[in-house]
Amino acid sequence: MNAAVDAGAIPYDVAQVRAQFPILSRSINGRPLAYLDSAASTQRPRPVLDAVEHYETHLHANVHRGVHTLSQLATDAFEASRERVRRYLNAASSREIIFVRGATEAINLVAQSWGRPTLKPGDEILISSLEHHANIVPWQMACAATGAKLVVAPITACGELDFNAYLALLNERTRLVAMTHVSNALGTVLPVARIVAAARDKGIATLIDGAQAVAHQRVDVQALGCDFYAFSSHKLYGPTGLGVLYGREAMLEAMPPWQGGGDMIRTVSFQSSTWNELPYKFEAGTPHISGAIGLAAAMDFVESLGLQRIAAHEHSLLAQATDALSQIPGITLHGTAPHKAGVLSFTLKGVHPHDLGTILDHEGVAIRAGHHCAMPLMDLLGVPATARASFGCYSTAQEVEQLTRAVHKAREVFA
Ligand code: ALA
Repeated sequence: MNAAVDAGAIPYDVAQVRAQFPILSRSINGRPLAYLDSAASTQRPRPVLDAVEHYETHLHANVHRGVHTLSQLATDAFEASRERVRRYLNAASSREIIFVRGATEAINLVAQSWGRPTLKPGDEILISSLEHHANIVPWQMACAATGAKLVVAPITACGELDFNAYLALLNERTRLVAMTHVSNALGTVLPVARIVAAARDKGIATLIDGAQAVAHQRVDVQALGCDFYAFSSHKLYGPTGLGVLYGREAMLEAMPPWQGGGDMIRTVSFQSSTWNELPYKFEAGTPHISGAIGLAAAMDFVESLGLQRIAAHEHSLLAQATDALSQIPGITLHGTAPHKAGVLSFTLKGVHPHDLGTILDHEGVAIRAGHHCAMPLMDLLGVPATARASFGCYSTAQEVEQLTRAVHKAREVFA
């Protein structure tokens, strides 16, 4: 990463950033689009669109299969993207970078390939109350198959992990700590370095769901020391349908493949088969080649802006939005942890979040309304759903003002 860029030496020019996202200049329902749903999916900048188009137009063939020139060019571009991801995460080796369909599939891979053969009756998987369904349900399935138990660490009233309660839950039966880096529903940033260190001290494996973190802060998997780290390309300004599982090489080596087919085999006979080396052992079938190339371009883009500068920009918008919305009568903010990413969850008294989302859409404001794939967390909060505004590198103070005006309008409509 360019240290000078991340040191905040250059002012952040959001207009220049936005100019690289063609979709942001469109209007919705006759209003300028205020896209405040980046936690669900970020938009793609021109360099990502161009990289994908260039690949599809000039380089496409299947990878790892052909001796012909195009296949070799496609393979080179695909493997260069894997190396780009390795650098982004500071993984020790590109053998530790597995391309999958998304963070959800990455976690399912670990649950199936590590969890099923490893877990025994009475073993425990420890998650937090903040988890997305993708970091709950795969473990429930692994527990049902093995007799292991899912244990949930509580959160405090402001939406932080109760760290002492977490420490107290680590015991000789805990086999894995699987926690989110940033809560998609509340924006809480979890102290993942401390979480991982405490688990490692006790010889417990760790998985971090980084879906909401990788676009907003620097992630160094070696410094973190986790065994697995999962994220999705489309939340990092890259294409949909692609994600990454980072796995420590020794862990991945010991795990059997979870899907069979092309690319993951070394030899096949009707009697038995043998497996390819890492990372291909976990990549059955033709991969999302253009997606990987787009993701590599997205990583270049993000690092050219500087992750610290993006984070600082998003934090200022979060502070502005928190201040503005908290002054509206009837608003409850959900998740007020001191350390948050650019996510603001709220409810408006007497208005269902879906109705709020619909009115905001009429005003050109795109937010997410619902349970955010975190139904157990909604139960804890005592609400069926929330409205959620979330920010990206292209979000602006004007969009926060547009959001605030639209919420006022919703309040008047339902008064
Ligand atoms: N997990 C995504 C979200 O939080 C879809 O919106």
